[in-house]
Amino acid sequence: MRPFSRLAPLLLLLVLVSPSSPQPQELHEEAGGLQESFLRCVSRLSPDTADPSELVHAPADASYPPLLASTIQNLRFASPQTPGPSLLLTPRTVTEVQASVACCKAHGLTVRARSGGHDYEGLSYRATRPSGGRPFGVIDVAALRTVRVDAARRVARAQPGATLGELYYAVAEGSGGALGFPAGICPTVCVGGHLSGGGFGPVMRKYGLAADNVVDAEVVDAGGKLLNRSAMGEDLFWAIRGGGGGSFGIVVSWTVSLVPVPSVVSAFTVRRLLRRGDEDEEAMLLLLTKWQLVAHALPDDLFVKVAMEPKVDDGGKRRPLVVFKSLFLGNYSGMITQMGIHLPELDIKPSDCREMNWIQSMLYFYGYTNGQPAEVFLDRTLQPKEYYKIKLDYLTSPIPATGLSMLFTKIVEEQGGSIDIDPQGGRMSEIPESDTPYAHRRGYLYNFQYYVKWGGDKNVSYEEKHLGWVRGVHELMTPYVSNRPRAAYINFRDLDLGQNVEGNTSYEEAKVWGRKYFRGNFRRLAMVKAEVDPDQVFWSEQSIPPLVVARRKRKGQRHAGLVLDI
Ligand SMILES: Cc1cc2nc3c(=O)[nH]c(=O)nc-3n(C[C@H](O)[C@H](O)[C@H](O)COP(=O)(O)OP(=O)(O)OC[C@H]3O[C@@H](n4cnc5c(N)ncnc54)[C@H](O)[C@@H]3O)c2cc1C
Ligand SMILES: *[C@@H]1O[C@H](CO)[C@@H](O)[C@H](O)[C@H]1NC(C)=O
Ligand SMILES: *[C@@H]1O[C@H](CO)[C@@H](O)[C@H](O)[C@H]1NC(C)=O
Ligand SMILES: *[C@@H]1O[C@H](CO)[C@@H](O)[C@H](O)[C@H]1NC(C)=O
Ligand SMILES: *[C@@H]1O[C@H](CO)[C@@H](O)[C@H](O)[C@H]1NC(C)=O
Repeated sequence: MRPFSRLAPLLLLLVLVSPSSPQPQELHEEAGGLQESFLRCVSRLSPDTADPSELVHAPADASYPPLLASTIQNLRFASPQTPGPSLLLTPRTVTEVQASVACCKAHGLTVRARSGGHDYEGLSYRATRPSGGRPFGVIDVAALRTVRVDAARRVARAQPGATLGELYYAVAEGSGGALGFPAGICPTVCVGGHLSGGGFGPVMRKYGLAADNVVDAEVVDAGGKLLNRSAMGEDLFWAIRGGGGGSFGIVVSWTVSLVPVPSVVSAFTVRRLLRRGDEDEEAMLLLLTKWQLVAHALPDDLFVKVAMEPKVDDGGKRRPLVVFKSLFLGNYSGMITQMGIHLPELDIKPSDCREMNWIQSMLYFYGYTNGQPAEVFLDRTLQPKEYYKIKLDYLTSPIPATGLSMLFTKIVEEQGGSIDIDPQGGRMSEIPESDTPYAHRRGYLYNFQYYVKWGGDKNVSYEEKHLGWVRGVHELMTPYVSNRPRAAYINFRDLDLGQNVEGNTSYEEAKVWGRKYFRGNFRRLAMVKAEVDPDQVFWSEQSIPPLVVARRKRKGQRHAGLVLDI
């Protein structure tokens, strides 16, 4: 018996629509055009929608360009040449989401779901190749963004268009600061995509990923049906908690368990600007070597990450800036004690530490370090839109001084470059790797995030220069990082790893990138895909391909019969 079946009053009444699933042929014959036919389809399946034209936007409509652009976070994919959807759907209710999916299916459109539009490769709203293959619809669920907190039961229910900032704010307000939620630091990322792909942040060592804390969900499946956890079964419920968005259905609500946070937490940021080739650099190499040995094994309450970026000094020369950033779930005296025990070399003093509450610490980690009010988190456009490319690696053993030295060399080559190193360990390594699709658990000590950003003055050679830098760092890291497979993280989507070919999405080919994201779990994800969306209504260049495996099924055990087989 799941403890959360007691939560019935918290959940919305389920509205089940059984679309009559007209065949594409039938619809196009009756229709003057795709848009008109689609509007009729919506009216039929969602009779309460007063004006379906507010839901359905075609490229020629004045409403389409601004709505499409609204959450394109990576400006690389905002140009008019970027292949976009044949129809953009903006449902305001769950019934409209169901109708949107069923009508896309009926019209032969594949579906891409969009919540916050922060996908690093833009796959929630764009195709990588100009159309010619299967056209697609984007179902943008940003308008579904209610968050309800039940502090007494320590749960919250959030719709997909809620941002992390809105969720954090609601949790802190709703619990008087007693509860928090472990997820990422960018407040404009939406829970729709974030929890679908895992979601890590500064309290992951204590509480794991955001997806590790999901206890129920509602999904609109490829047929337009609304399913809660018990209706979808444990295989689909497993797949949606880390298998990446855009493959299994559209999540229309998450129910998450909230975690206790102390009323006072502490943070510090220590910056060291290096001079190359002198004792500064030697000392930093020693410090980073020690840090690598301890950071993944610290008490769970303590998170100490490292970031590197270039900084122009007074003489106009670019030098490596190394930043240690830490969060401790306790007061500053506890923080100093722990740092003194585990990393005395960093020499943290009381004046380095700041006490605050949990929500302020999330703001602090995002960069608002001056005690700004929590309301800052309610700004849905807080994160600036930029041109960028990001790649991510995992480390299973510390990197030697030669590798660190190489990073110092590379970081000063690119003004828009930065490298973040986040320690895992703690709760992250206690969870067995097959419990959720996120497989990088025990033994995965750190993740390395390589960022490059550039300004709006963009031409192809300019872009290639920046892309070349970030790909070059990734290449140079090869000897130091996880291999067989070289692991990656689906929420840090990277099309350099490989992509599906339209019309021929094969499991065998997708394994090349799929195993990097999910290791042995990729196979189970592909088997779930075959169960719930064999026709690939939900398709993108990195959606999970279906894998049909002949196996014995016992009646009534449809879901229990699917066993992990690595
Ligand atoms: C500035 C910035 C900072 C970030 N920081 C972190 C971090 O600290 N930790 C971390 O783990 N990640 C981080 N990320 C990555 C982020 O978690 C992922 O990009 C996430 O998938 C974005 O979710 P979204 O809804 O905003 O994006 P979208 O682009 O809308 O969606 C991302 C993917 O999920 C699918 N999807 C969207 N909505 C749904 C839905 N309702 N149901 C099913 N599938 C859906 C999309 O089709 C797409 O495949 C960051 C990203 C950015 C841009
Ligand atoms: C989940 O869905 C099933 C089937 O539609 C329904 O019987 C059940 O009451 C729902 N559970 C909750 C907790 O809402
Ligand atoms: C800090 O926290 C510890 C442990 O909770 C407590 O014993 C101590 O009194 C606190 N110190 C201060 C200065 O608040
Ligand atoms: C591209 O942009 C860069 C930086 O603005 C500039 O130096 C370069 O000359 C441009 N190249 C072309 C071909 O326009
Ligand atoms: C589709 O993929 C399979 C498996 O890789 C391959 O054998 C086949 O040739 C591909 N077909 C086309 C048309 O590309």
